[in-house]
Amino acid sequence: MIISPSEAAVRLQQGDVVALPTETVYGLAGDATNPQAVARIYEIKRRPADNPLICHFASADDVLPYVVRIPDDTRVLMQAFTPGPISFMLNIPDHSPLLFATCGSRQVIVRIPAHPVFQQIARQIGVPLAAPSANTSGFLSPTSAAMVEADLGRYGVVVVDGGPCAVGVESTIVDARSSGLVRILRPGAIGAEEIRSILPRADIEIGSAVAAVPGSRYRHYAPATPLVAISADRLPQLQPGALLLHTEELLTTMRERMPPALLEQVRLFSLGSISNITELARNFYYNLQQVDRIGAPTAYVLVPDWGTTSLGKALNDRFNRMLAAAG
Ligand code: TXA
Ligand code: MG
Repeated sequence: MIISPSEAAVRLQQGDVVALPTETVYGLAGDATNPQAVARIYEIKRRPADNPLICHFASADDVLPYVVRIPDDTRVLMQAFTPGPISFMLNIPDHSPLLFATCGSRQVIVRIPAHPVFQQIARQIGVPLAAPSANTSGFLSPTSAAMVEADLGRYGVVVVDGGPCAVGVESTIVDARSSGLVRILRPGAIGAEEIRSILPRADIEIGSAVAAVPGSRYRHYAPATPLVAISADRLPQLQPGALLLHTEELLTTMRERMPPALLEQVRLFSLGSISNITELARNFYYNLQQVDRIGAPTAYVLVPDWGTTSLGKALNDRFNRMLAAAG
C-alpha cells in the first residue's frame, strides 16, 4: 500500500516501519532509537541478527549529538557530498541509543540522503532512521515503490512512492576516521576519484569490506535465478534460458553469433546502453528483477566492460557479488 509522506512520519513516530525512497535505493525505515522498530526491520527482512543497520539523518548537524565526534576528513567529505549517496563510519559513545541498530557495535554507519521526500520526513520526525535496503535479506535492492511492494508487500509493508531512484545502487560506505586515510568499504556512485578531488593528499584504500562491513559476508544483491557469466564466443553454445546483455551487444555480437533457431529459445533482457552508465545504474536492479519473472533455470550474462567511472566500478562490484552468490 502506498502512503503519503505525512502519514509515514506519523507511523514512524509511533514506532512503525515504513519503506521510504532515497536517491540510491528504497530503505525499510524505522526509528533507530526504538528497539521495537529495529526488531521489526530485522523480522521483515529476515536479516541476520548480527548485521547492523545504517542510520539516516536529515543533516550533519543532526548526526552530531549521536556520535563521539566527526573527525576532520569525515567532515570535509560530508560537506562536499552530503546530502548524497555516501555513508560514513563513525564512533558512538557507551550507552548510545543507536546500539540496537548497530547490534551492539560502538561504530555506526551514518547516511544523509538527498531525496526530497526522505529529507522532508527525516526533518519532520527528528530522530535517526535505521533503514537498510527494503528487500528480503540476500535479494535485490528495490529502486521503485513497485519493487518494494513486490518483495515486501505481503508482510503489510507500506511505501512512500518517491519515484524511481536517481542513482540505483547503494551508497558508497567510507571510513574516514583517521586523518589522511579514507577506506572505501563499499563502492558506490562517489568513488576514489571524487574523494581525491576533495582530499588530494589522503591515501585512499579500496578495502576488502568483509571484516568491516558484516553485510558483505552474506549472500548479497542477487536475483533468485542463478547467473552464469559467459563471453561472446560462447554464445553459439548457449542453452535455452534467459540472456542479459547491454544494448550494444544486442545489436552486434549476438546477432552475428547466435543461430536464429537458438535465438528463438532465448529470452533477452537488456541491461541498457553501456554508453550511458548513469541510466544503466538506474535500471540495474529492475532489469535483474525482470529475469526472475520468467522462471528460467539459468540467466546467462554477457559480461559488460563497466568502464572506469566510480559508478561503473560500483556496478562491477555488485555484479561480481551476484556471480559469486550464484556459485
Ligand atoms: O544506499 C544505501 O546505503 C541504502 C539506502 C536505503 O540508504 N542502504 C543500504 O543498507 O544499502 P544495507 O543495510 O542494505 O547495507 C548496509 C551495509 C551492510 O552491509 C551492513 O553490514 C553495513 O552496511 N553496516 C551497517 N551498519 C554497520 C556498522 N555499524 N558497522 C559495520 N557495518 C555496518
Ligand atoms: Mg541491502
